[in-house]
Amino acid sequence: MITRTQLSRLGLFDAKVPRYTSYPTAPHFSDAVDDRTFSDWIGALAEGSRVSLYLHVPFCRRLCWFCACRTQGTATLSPVESYVGTLIRELDLLKARLPRGVTLSRLHWGGGTPTLLTPDMMRRLIDKVAEVAPFADHAEFSVEIDPNEIDRERLDVMVAGGLNRASIGVQDFDDEIQRLIGRDQGYDVTRAAVDMIRERGVPSLNADILFGLPDQSRARITETVQKLLSLSPDRVALYGYAHVPWMAKRQQMIPSDKLPGPDERLALFETARSLFVWDGYCEIGIDHFAAPSDGLSVAQKTGRLRRNFQGYTDDTSEVLIGLGASAISRFPQGYAQNAPATSAHTARIRAGRFSTVRGHVFGGEDRLRSRMIEMLMCDFRIRTEELVRDYGASATRLREEFAAICRRFDSLPVLDDEGLFLPPDVRPLTRLVARALDAYDLSKAGHSSAI
Ligand SMILES: C[S@@+](CC[C@H](N)C(=O)[O-])C[C@H]1O[C@@H](n2cnc3c(N)ncnc32)[C@H](O)[C@@H]1O
Ligand code: SF4
Repeated sequence: MITRTQLSRLGLFDAKVPRYTSYPTAPHFSDAVDDRTFSDWIGALAEGSRVSLYLHVPFCRRLCWFCACRTQGTATLSPVESYVGTLIRELDLLKARLPRGVTLSRLHWGGGTPTLLTPDMMRRLIDKVAEVAPFADHAEFSVEIDPNEIDRERLDVMVAGGLNRASIGVQDFDDEIQRLIGRDQGYDVTRAAVDMIRERGVPSLNADILFGLPDQSRARITETVQKLLSLSPDRVALYGYAHVPWMAKRQQMIPSDKLPGPDERLALFETARSLFVWDGYCEIGIDHFAAPSDGLSVAQKTGRLRRNFQGYTDDTSEVLIGLGASAISRFPQGYAQNAPATSAHTARIRAGRFSTVRGHVFGGEDRLRSRMIEMLMCDFRIRTEELVRDYGASATRLREEFAAICRRFDSLPVLDDEGLFLPPDVRPLTRLVARALDAYDLSKAGHSSAI
């Protein structure tokens, strides 16, 4: 049984590590990738292939203090209207470059708050996306929904456009915690949003909650999880609150002396985790829970669980095209990121070119290490056979590297005939083990705490 002292000695309570939604992680992107590279990579897609599409909407009516997402506050709809015009032009640029017969396996609207769009703006976007590429069979259309920013008409438009997965932000139901993180969202508001979503037959509902919030205690997180369970979400993301006020300036409003320490963060996570498990949810990777019938649970059981910029997914498409300010795309050749600032993004698109400003071209062992880290984050197991077969890795070298990891982590990871495995009680160390597989220099990047 792993002890608190061991976890501490291995660095769990001090380390700052990436969440590994990509490898290499975004701080290692460079200007080696530009709009021409992005355009070439789109042009190189196989005719008839299936891709995923992400549309980023970087606007919110309210700016919650805890939020580290790339978004800006707006009191009026005029910047949003103009931005939707830009997205439509960007979609036209994509349409002009896409080979024939490409279909969408996933469409995701994220932000920010995509539900800030008016019904008419939503309709225009849905129609334009359909013009660029139709949905593939069994496609998923998901949207991040702020329960304070949704109504029947908007939901009707999205459902008519194929919405079949809704993701709502909850964070915590406790009034006092909400006050401390600058987010006012009564249980009734969330319940009403969930009811509206369900009444329209949207088959899948995800909810995001956070551990590690100011003044959050085990009793309070228990209360929040129980309230959340009363809404029967199909999936839950239980993220560790990332306090990075040097990057997200609005987090300076959050009193750091009220934040739980690393030991308490672990206890908060464990408290919430046990409640979900007791309630029959399957644990998915490091921070998700899903009903046994949910696609993520099925993917986990059948070895098809994947990780991308949106977290865990059962989408097996190799290509994710991100449109909108700051959006990141993934191709077999590498990553491409759009200009982060809305103004710079808009200027480029309106000049008739994609807005890619940085990215990464896979080279050396990037693909191999990317897959190793993905396997670890998804399955807690790195399978040597797949790496030898698909990436030409040497089984002997892998075994040496895994043995070194075992030594470094007190023999807690297990080296067996299949490869490297993290038993359940060792899983708090997953991101630290992933970091040990990362060949890049992580000293300069401002990551969040390992727990
Ligand atoms: C891009 S936000 C969109 C949510 C939507 N606008 C809402 O407010 O409901 C998606 C999720 O990112 C997570 N998130 C935002 N800031 C975070 C932080 N500092 N640490 C961890 N997770 C964070 C929250 O759980 C949030 O629900
Ligand atoms: S949590 Fe949602 S509404 Fe709040 S600032 Fe972040 S993106 Fe905007």
